[in-house]
Amino acid sequence: MNDNEKYYTLKTIRRIWKSYATGSTKLLLIALSCNAIVALTTPALPELIRRVIDDIFVNADRSMLTILPLVAISIMLIRAAGTYGANVAINYIGQRIVGSLQKDLYKSILNSDLAYINSIHSARFISSFTADSSKLRETMSSVVVNLSRNILMVAGLVGYLFYVDAILATIFFIVIPPAAIGLKFLGKRLRKAIRMSLEEIGTLSALVSETLKGIRIIKAYGKEKIHLRKASEVIDQVVNFSMKGVRARSASAPIMEIVTGVAIACIIYYAGNKSLDGLMTVGSFMAFTTAAGLLYDPLKAVANLQAMLQEGIAASQRLFPILDNKPKIQEKENLKKLETVSGSINFENISFSYSENGKHVLKNISIKIKSGQTVALVGPSGAGKSSLLNLVPRFYDVSSGKVKIDNIDIKNLSLADVRSASALVSQDTLIFDLSIRENIIFGNENVTDKIFQKVCKDSLVDEFVKDLPDGYETIAGESGVRISGGQKQRIAIARAMIKNAPILLLDEATSSLDSESEKKVQIALDKLIKNKTALVIAHRLSTVRNVDIIYVIDKGIVVEEGDHDSLIKKDGLYSFLFKTQFPESAVEKN
Ligand SMILES: Nc1ncnc2c1ncn2[C@@H]1O[C@H](COP(=O)(O)OP(=O)(O)OP(=O)(O)O)[C@@H](O)[C@H]1O
Ligand SMILES: [Mg+2]
Repeated sequence: MNDNEKYYTLKTIRRIWKSYATGSTKLLLIALSCNAIVALTTPALPELIRRVIDDIFVNADRSMLTILPLVAISIMLIRAAGTYGANVAINYIGQRIVGSLQKDLYKSILNSDLAYINSIHSARFISSFTADSSKLRETMSSVVVNLSRNILMVAGLVGYLFYVDAILATIFFIVIPPAAIGLKFLGKRLRKAIRMSLEEIGTLSALVSETLKGIRIIKAYGKEKIHLRKASEVIDQVVNFSMKGVRARSASAPIMEIVTGVAIACIIYYAGNKSLDGLMTVGSFMAFTTAAGLLYDPLKAVANLQAMLQEGIAASQRLFPILDNKPKIQEKENLKKLETVSGSINFENISFSYSENGKHVLKNISIKIKSGQTVALVGPSGAGKSSLLNLVPRFYDVSSGKVKIDNIDIKNLSLADVRSASALVSQDTLIFDLSIRENIIFGNENVTDKIFQKVCKDSLVDEFVKDLPDGYETIAGESGVRISGGQKQRIAIARAMIKNAPILLLDEATSSLDSESEKKVQIALDKLIKNKTALVIAHRLSTVRNVDIIYVIDKGIVVEEGDHDSLIKKDGLYSFLFKTQFPESAVEKN
């Protein structure tokens, strides 16, 4: 079953109803009955007009002068109450459905594998959250309104037309279908234009968002003109599609006018004849035209039901796959418990690739890290160092082999246990748009002030926060724009210190800090590593001189291992990398 079949109309509606609206059955019943009341009182309006004209104006029946106004007020009151009740109930249901749907969507995103999240542009997730879920709400409400109010209204009015004059009604319904076909055709074009312009608007917002993020690079490379041209093209497309929509929409009014003209002509001719023969009252004629006019809106809505459903399905097809995505990284049953973690890590002959049939970025790697040891990974860019690090918190699963913490295969542990065993300081430190304090504590609310202060001192965060206007309450800005690179790293180190996990995974940032900041980050790191098992990816080879073992990785394979001195002696890849970084020290050594 492909996605298109899986998210087919009725199935989707049933599913939404079952998962999100079963608690709203009462509200739905209220909505349906209110709608039915509104629909069934509709034919009363033309009938009222008929009575007013025939009884009061033509037959001069005084008694009707008090009765008919009262009837008018009663009908309107009933309709007003019905409309209000139906609208409130339907919107209530709709909002509830969207709310629960969005919560599930958010949960599903949180629980997704990194591989899945990385495979989809973030804008897609956001539009599912906003546009798709409100589209779905619209569809649901319009289905409810259509199935109760509009269809009943159409039935009631058509019945009334035939009741007033069957032949006139027949003439009327012969004239209408060609117009309906014309309008349907225009509707199709209109929807296509709307869909296309929505897509272009999506492209435009992605472009604007990327421009804002990359404004520095754009300016630095002087690419404003190119971006302006790209944006102009997209905007022109939006205008183009919108104009197509305008043309289609504008064409529908003249079509309706022509058809209405023909219909009116036929009706005048036939009804006039009948009236001259004394077979039709003025009231009946007026009632007929009023009822015919009232038919227009509900008829149009019923005719558009299919199109509305299509749009809803399109939204479901984008939304439900996210909801249905099952994370591949699953917990087994009968999990082992990771009690007091000593923090040894064991990579047992592991191989790894990012996609099922993709090439292996890590091949047959075996690394043993004893509790308390510091092990460094070095190697050229793209060698697979970060990939190896990501396997420890089980962000990805190995293709073969085993990753063990405290000699237990991490697949036999709960994800919560695995992830609380290690703290990660990654290459691209993420700072949230929160205060610096919140960025450091990061949900560990029970951290005491004393620990917080010690951490800030050890990580040297204190040093720069002192000078900020709002101190620890300073808001870091979107992605931490108001904080420098070195400061971000120190915040990340403080965050890891607060977590105080037995295993540390450090992916040293490549962004070249000046030697002053580098020294500070290094001091903070040394404090962080103390008494922990640490797996460190070092780009600056000056930092690995004192580690216990260095593994040199190249193209996903461990090519050398040993301590600094022995690797330099070996005169292999490590020695080569070291010499390129420190030509002067290499000279010293030789
Ligand atoms: N999310 C991903 N999906 C697919 N392939 C990836 C992904 N991340 C990395 N790769 C690929 O895996 C290989 C190893 O990447 P990795 O990030 O582990 O290198 P690295 O040794 O950390 O490099 P650097 O020193 O530049 O940080 C590269 O060829 C890269 O293109
Ligand atoms: Mg890396």
